[in-house]
Parts: sequence; structure tokens; C-alpha cells
Amino acid sequence: MIVVKTVLFKNARIVDHKKDEISDILVEDGLIKQIAGEFKSVDQIIDLKGGILMPAFTDLHVHFRDPGYTYKEDIFSGSKAAVAGGYTTVNLMANTNPVCSDNNTVEYVIRKAEKCGLIDAFQTSSITRDFDGKDISHLKNISNAHVKIISDDGFGVESYDVMEEALMIAKDRGFVVSSHAEYTAVSGDDPRESENLMTKRDIELCEKTNARLHMAHVSTKEAIKMIQHAKKRGVPVTCEVTPHHISINDDIKYEVHPPLRKRCDVIALTEAIVDGTVDCIATDHAPHSKEDKEKGARGISSIEIAFSICYSYLVRTNKISLRKLSELMSFNPSKILQINKGEIAPGRIADFILIDPDIAFTVDENKFISKGKNTPINGMKLYGRVLSVYKNGERIYDYKGENDG
Ligand code: DOR
Ligand code: ZN
Repeated sequence: MIVVKTVLFKNARIVDHKKDEISDILVEDGLIKQIAGEFKSVDQIIDLKGGILMPAFTDLHVHFRDPGYTYKEDIFSGSKAAVAGGYTTVNLMANTNPVCSDNNTVEYVIRKAEKCGLIDAFQTSSITRDFDGKDISHLKNISNAHVKIISDDGFGVESYDVMEEALMIAKDRGFVVSSHAEYTAVSGDDPRESENLMTKRDIELCEKTNARLHMAHVSTKEAIKMIQHAKKRGVPVTCEVTPHHISINDDIKYEVHPPLRKRCDVIALTEAIVDGTVDCIATDHAPHSKEDKEKGARGISSIEIAFSICYSYLVRTNKISLRKLSELMSFNPSKILQINKGEIAPGRIADFILIDPDIAFTVDENKFISKGKNTPINGMKLYGRVLSVYKNGERIYDYKGENDG
């Protein structure tokens, strides 16, 4: 016998990309069934008393380090950290050991994530086999429905021909190509030009091939301008920015790639969020051990506080509405992954979060659930917390103040 469970969430302040309104939501069997109106008898009623309910977040750019570097993070610790940050869907990057260039590695990750059961994981396949910069023959064999994006993230694909060929295959196979724009040879002398040059090249190739290109962690004012112009010409490019690149600048010294940029870049990225050029906020959650950071490892552990950073720097400062933040963290990334999530609407999967925008806290990286206790935001005061997370209509996380970091 199939038991259909119905739960009515009453008096929710529903905030998604389209609406900000007080209403009731009926969840049936893990799906959002109805919003507002008359409801028949239900199994359970939860009165939210005007509390804010938003779609759970989707993160297109996450490093869980599994397989191979599980002392930095693993799928279990990463999943728990993601949920505490309000995420129920993540797209994991391929710079694991082995590099994810084959179906076996994809299956290992997806099975382990399913066993953990907290989040829906998608896995990136590398563009070039083992990041060798040349061989893309494995792309025709990648056949797992959980691979939607291909990327050599961590490295740029330096060869023009290889990138062009990869875009053509991606177009044929329905993959999105996520570009980590960096010419390593240029990076040391001119890290700004390194990103700008590859962004220019990738947009050119996108225009030529008409394949789906996604620019990862855009960080310079020049790069975001190029993307803005390309979008106006109808080039099928999307982009993401990270919470750190829109909040802090190179007054703070911290190893991360792309590097923390100038104040003018932070302003340009923020303007591009406001004018609609930026499609998504993605964390680039990059956990490392203390020892690896001391040796110069690049990256920031950020999935637990991404919402708080964005809320504090974008919404609380009145630059954007909470609705717009929902579009950037839920609707648009879900659309790119082609999943049935990202808005509070009948028929969508009932993955949602309750938030309190007024909770203030001081970031303490040592209290992170993630194994990666590495953030330059450490010690800063932020606002806004995820209170509860529901996946398929079931509550899977409650904030108790324990990870107030
Ligand atoms: O800072 C970074 N860390 N940038 C990257 O591109 C890779 C990432 C990592 O994997 O640690
Ligand atoms: Zn990257």
C-alpha cells in the first residue's frame, strides 16, 4: 500500500524568484501540491507564523574532495555542511584523485551521496582526461544522468582547439561547459589578464559553436563586462560569482583562485548582479586542511555561510531583494542543472528552507561542520541564518546555534 503523506505549512512568508507573499503550502508525497486556497484534510499542519520559507539552494560549484583527498572533506562531511548552508543540490567538481574522467568515478560519488541521503549530488566530468589539457576522447563515454556539466575547474583549458572541440561535443551531448578562466603562464605576472584573456577566448568560441558555456567564478570587472556584452548579442553564455568575490577585496591577503580582486571589481560584480548579467551565486566551496593552507593551498570553505554573506552584503544593504537572491541561489542554478527545483510552485520537489534574516553572528571557522576550516571571512559579523531544511517535504536539518560559524 502506498502511504501518501500530506503536510500543510500554514502562514509562511513565501519568498522565491517570483513572489514574496504570506500563504499556505500543501506538500504531498515530497512534492509541492498546492499554494493557497482551500485544503482537504491533511496528515499534519505546521504553522510557520509568518516565518520566511524559500526554495533550498542549488550550488553549481563545489569541491567535496572525494575520492582521494578525504582528509580535506568527504561526501558525508560535505553533505552535512551543504545542508547547514541551506543547499539540497550540489554540483561537484572533478579535481579529485583520480580526476573524474570516467563513469566509475561518477558512480562512486553518486552512490556515496545517495547513501548519505542528505543532498542530491551531480558530478562534473573533466573536459580533458586527467586534466592533461589535450585528450577529450572520454567525453563520448560519459553516460551518467548525474553529469550535466563538464569542467577542468582548478585549471583553464589552454588549447583553443581542444576547447572548441569540447564545446562541440558538449553541444551534441547536452552538457554545459563550465570554464575556469586562467592561463597558468600569465597567472603569476598578471592574474587579471589571465582571467580576462581566457574569458574573451571562451566567449568567442561560444559564439562560434553556439554551445552552452558557463563562466565559473567571474571576478574581474573586464570579464563581467565581456559577458554582459556577449549576452546582449545573444551568445548562450551564463555565469556565476562567488560570495567572497562580491564581499571582500585584496585588502585581505588570502590564497584563493581567482584571487580576491580590487574594490572596483567588487562594485562591478555587484552592479552586474543588480542589472541581471550574473545568473548564479556559486560558492566554489574549497575546503583544505590547516597544513595544506599553510603550504599555500588555494581556496575558501564557504558553503555553510554563503547565504549569510550574500544576505549581509546584497540584501541587507538594499542592493537586491530577497527574491532576487532566491533567483541567484535557487532558480537559475536549478534551471542550468535542469532539475525540478528552485521555486515554490505546484509540481516542484518540496526542497525548501526556513530562514531568519535577523540573526546576527560572528563567523568562527573552527565551528564549521565542513572539515575545511578556511575562510578569510573568519571573525566578521554576518546576518541571516538558515533555520531548517526540508528535502522532499521531510525536515533534515535544524539550526541549533552549534555551528555558529
Ligand atoms: O581557490 C580555488 N580552489 N580555486 C580553484 O580553482 C580550485 C579550488 C580547489 O579545488 O581548491
Ligand atoms: Zn575554479
